[in-house]
Amino acid sequence: MDGAFDLMHYGHMNAFRLGRSLGTHLVVGVNSDESITECKGAPLMNDQERLTMVSSCKFVDEVVPGCPYIMTPEYLEYVIDKYKIDMVVHGDDPCIVDGKDVYASAKAAGKYCSIPRTEGVSTTDIVGRMLLMTKEHHMHQLDSESSGSRNSGSNNNQNDPSDKDNNNLLGRQSKFLTTSRMLKLFSSDLKAPVPGMKVVYIDGSWDMFHPGHVSLLKIAKQRGDFLIVGVHGDTVVNRVLGMNLPLMNLHERVLSVLGCRYVDDVLIDAPYEITQVMLSYLDISEVLESPDTGYGAASSNESCDRYRHVPQEARYQCPKNPCTFSLQNILQRIRRNQDQFQSRFERKMNAERQFFEIKHSSDNGHINGS
Ligand code: CTP
Repeated sequence: MDGAFDLMHYGHMNAFRLGRSLGTHLVVGVNSDESITECKGAPLMNDQERLTMVSSCKFVDEVVPGCPYIMTPEYLEYVIDKYKIDMVVHGDDPCIVDGKDVYASAKAAGKYCSIPRTEGVSTTDIVGRMLLMTKEHHMHQLDSESSGSRNSGSNNNQNDPSDKDNNNLLGRQSKFLTTSRMLKLFSSDLKAPVPGMKVVYIDGSWDMFHPGHVSLLKIAKQRGDFLIVGVHGDTVVNRVLGMNLPLMNLHERVLSVLGCRYVDDVLIDAPYEITQVMLSYLDISEVLESPDTGYGAASSNESCDRYRHVPQEARYQCPKNPCTFSLQNILQRIRRNQDQFQSRFERKMNAERQFFEIKHSSDNGHINGS
């Protein structure tokens, strides 16, 4: 399977999961910045960032960097020969450049197979949520936060008449239907910790799962044998971060964390304040404290030390995350080219709408695959 995987999300992870279920080994080609720019406009994340995200997904066995967006017969021959590929997989959405099917060569060679595209999420949809965040009145808050005066922990937009989008939690915009089956499919490889294992816990918002999160979870996993990741609920995240965050709702954030290869279990809607009952029930022997789990300086404004019930010897202060990537980076990139992203967003959203209307008016057996 190949693709751009820009702002990689759980829809891409589900595509990997489905692709892998068709065989025994999934090789994922990541399109180069250059070829994406040429064929559909510059990506928001660079080669390295997109490669990091794809490699971190537990459904991916091998990653090929620098893939061309258009699968030429020569490239098809090269990947078949080098990676012993039996089949090329792509979502069932059309992939056309200059009127030509990007996968024509694979189809002609009888090596092509499609999977149902995961409905309700796309890079375009996430960019749309970010574009709303970059609206002036939200941006004003962002600016004051970067200059040090973070929100004091209240949802500033909740009763703010200037919040014209009436859109206090961006995650509420999600069109994704989270079924228990999907959660199960993302969790099917998870096993209980065995006695004697060191169980480590880390929590956070994990909003718009990104390379900074992956780097931190890798560090966390190295602290023990079994990593439980707490994902805070939408109201908790909004209380701490303010604006109209989170960008992704709880279910979406849970799926992204579940798809990460360093994660052994997820505590859904984790308590903000870690309790002793929780430590004992989940057999947690170490709690990682990190300023990099999405809250940064905001959490230090909360009135209590949320780790205060954790015994001193079980508290571990994470070293500085070597990856400094944050949601703010992406917002800044969008902000720099606001008009360009806005028109690209409108164009792609229309195309996506048309695709789904056609798809649902004709056949339609499956949603999000099995
Ligand atoms: N994909 C999917 N479900 C989604 C999004 C993407 O199954 N919700 C699949 C695509 O069909 C493709 C692969 O993921 O096989 C890589 O997609 P990508 O190249 O990133 O491009 P897009 O399809 O445009 O993804 P998006 O709409 O998210 O930009």
